[in-house]
Amino acid sequence: MARAMMATEKGAAARLLEIDDEEFFEGSGGDEAVDLDVLFSSVNFKDGLAITGRPGVLRAWPLIPGIDIVGRVTRSRSSRFAPGDLVVLNGDGIGENRHGGFATKARVRPDALLHLPEAISPERAAAIGTAGFTSMLAVLALQDAGVTPDDGEVLVTGAAGGVGSVAISLLAGRGYTVVASSGRVEAQGDYLRSLGAARVVDRSPLGEPGKPLQTQQWAGAVDSVGSTTLANVLAQTNYGGTVVACGLAAGSELPTTVMPFILRGVTLTGANSVEAPRALRERAWTDLANELDLGLLDSMTTTIGLDAVADTAERILAGQVRGRTVVDVAS
Ligand SMILES: NC(=O)c1ccc[n+]([C@@H]2O[C@H](COP(=O)([O-])OP(=O)(O)OC[C@H]3O[C@@H](n4cnc5c(N)ncnc54)[C@H](OP(=O)(O)O)[C@@H]3O)[C@@H](O)[C@H]2O)c1
Repeated sequence: MARAMMATEKGAAARLLEIDDEEFFEGSGGDEAVDLDVLFSSVNFKDGLAITGRPGVLRAWPLIPGIDIVGRVTRSRSSRFAPGDLVVLNGDGIGENRHGGFATKARVRPDALLHLPEAISPERAAAIGTAGFTSMLAVLALQDAGVTPDDGEVLVTGAAGGVGSVAISLLAGRGYTVVASSGRVEAQGDYLRSLGAARVVDRSPLGEPGKPLQTQQWAGAVDSVGSTTLANVLAQTNYGGTVVACGLAAGSELPTTVMPFILRGVTLTGANSVEAPRALRERAWTDLANELDLGLLDSMTTTIGLDAVADTAERILAGQVRGRTVVDVAS
């Protein structure tokens, strides 16, 4: 038997249920399915939408939400994994159209499953989770685009959220001068500076419609907000700079013009944690293991049990959650 948060029908909030896992997972995970004791999951913005029954994330019912799993293998039909292995899975459709991490047991396909790097404990791997993994994808995108610490300030929007918090600490760790844009400057300013932000700015001006080209300020940016914010960030990016779009906390629309691209050679690129190929996943997790300051990670992490996931889901959608929330599924 297993405990699981279950979304039973479209539009309904997920509920905590007892399930017969053998019967429930029958047919899941394909021919090479790997069975896991789930140790930890985490609550991401997407999980907030899924748990509360909002549209846009879940595409099958009944479904166990949770886009992150950190677990121990109990049975493997894949030659890549063996019982006892500690593993991590971010995205790959779990918590969307495949069963996810908000349960004590899981059965997953091995395609995007990775062995946990030795330097990272299971709880910290969940603290990194999809948000932290995506932050590293964004940092790698800036690096691959040639944005260096000498080029100038790098902006992080949605700064006090999960993606933003980890992005600040990773960028600062690489020597970038990071400016954090947040709606919680008073409440979270000290926190954001403790992660490595050189300056913290109020997010409001970025949320107001602005001119197609504005004063150049940013060598690069990591944006998890989207909408007007992303349009303004593009308009403020230096000649030749790069902006990585990671999210849509304010909306999926992008009311921009071609001006930043044709007059300043700005590059807009993206980070996609769900469909990241295996080689990129391995690169990102290796760099996370080598670079992420675990003390800072701990300082941005709150741990809850499965019972508290529903409440955290509402709060993350309301923009009230700071940093990362780990779910200790067994507690
Ligand atoms: N591309 C991918 O693969 C991928 C992976 C993970 C997440 N995402 C997306 O990235 C975004 C952030 O995810 P997360 O897990 O970090 O969420 P989160 O913890 O809720 O952080 C989002 C942050 O955005 C800011 N924000 C919220 N609502 C806003 C609004 N209406 N206008 C302006 N700013 C707002 C808040 O930061 P402040 O309080 O500091 O302003 C909030 O903490 C989500 O849209 C998520 O779906 C995408």
